[in-house]
Amino acid sequence: MGGIFFGLKLQIIFISMFFTQHHQVRRRRRLRPMIKKLYYYYFLNMLNKTENEKTPHVISVKNWSKEIIPQMHRLLEVPNWAPWLAASTQSMEGRANVFPEGQLMMEIDTVPAASLSMNRIYWDGNPQSLKSWDDVAGDPTDYSSTYNPAGNTLVLMSMNVALEQQGKQLPARLINHAKQLVADLNMQYLIGSFRPTGYGVAKAEHNYQLPFWQYCTQMTVSRLDKHGVFGQSGSTIQLPFDPWLRSLTWAGLKPLKEDTSAMVVSVPLIEFQGYKQNYKPNQWNEIQPNVWECGEVGLWTIYPENGSATYTESNLWGVIY
Ligand SMILES: CC(C)(COP(=O)(O)OP(=O)(O)OC[C@H]1O[C@@H](n2cnc3c(N)ncnc32)[C@H](O)[C@@H]1OP(=O)(O)O)[C@@H](O)C(=O)NCCC(=O)NCCS
Repeated sequence: MGGIFFGLKLQIIFISMFFTQHHQVRRRRRLRPMIKKLYYYYFLNMLNKTENEKTPHVISVKNWSKEIIPQMHRLLEVPNWAPWLAASTQSMEGRANVFPEGQLMMEIDTVPAASLSMNRIYWDGNPQSLKSWDDVAGDPTDYSSTYNPAGNTLVLMSMNVALEQQGKQLPARLINHAKQLVADLNMQYLIGSFRPTGYGVAKAEHNYQLPFWQYCTQMTVSRLDKHGVFGQSGSTIQLPFDPWLRSLTWAGLKPLKEDTSAMVVSVPLIEFQGYKQNYKPNQWNEIQPNVWECGEVGLWTIYPENGSATYTESNLWGVIY
């Protein structure tokens, strides 16, 4: 594509040079040096641009720093999460203090492109003993009350990709870093309580009659396994319908159980009304008295007698290994 534009630019320049020369010879000899200069600068600019287009992107992965957290919050957290679910900058700073090696940020050309937050806990390998995402995060959600420096399990807690960088398999790169961390810190398991990002939309399409586990385990999307990740290269495989679970399955995800109260958020009724009015207002639907779907993975229940509303979201506990 760059080549075609380069060719077009050259043609335009030669044609305009030809005409300009003819006119100038006859009428505007005085302008000639100036126009030459303009061509010169135009050529320089064009060469620079072509050079930049060729420059490969610089991708780096680093640990979160106090300085970069406000920018990460603005570019990665806020655009990707409903306001009642987004981590605060204080919580992010806390995580970076408690478990610095477990907080990764990918930059592309020095701009935050993706982030992964992890916690370290002890787990006995029995799915039944896994509690909720909230329990692993602790309160406040900065891992300060749950991080175990001798834990045998790395828990993937939150992944964010900048909107303009989504679809480029950046999560796979960050998960590879997580796998490396498990090895470096001599841990045994890599797990997560994963959020099926397409569940909110799917629920609405099924008239809110789509059980969570059924949604998460439906393997209805066919893909070509070019590199033999699941066996023979070139074979067609069945992957989860949910886009995030599909991506995680490439990384080795195996479902364990439903985390029925992964994220529970209670707010005063007035705050709930504010969310309903300002956050994706056309997606809110009262499916039964005092129960509201909002296009998200979870739903809201209103308690008028307490003047409060509670959001509850299921996630999928899964093991990568
Ligand atoms: C969920 C989220 C992290 C996914 O990131 P993404 O950039 O959109 O997804 P990916 O780049 O991993 O996936 C893109 C494609 O690559 C595929 N893919 C991923 N890894 C792959 C691999 N190793 N080999 C082949 N294909 C792969 C995915 O399956 C997907 O393809 P498909 O949908 O056509 O099947 C991102 O959408 C996001 O930040 N969402 C908001 C926050 C959130 O909900 N986070 C998750 C819960 S913590």
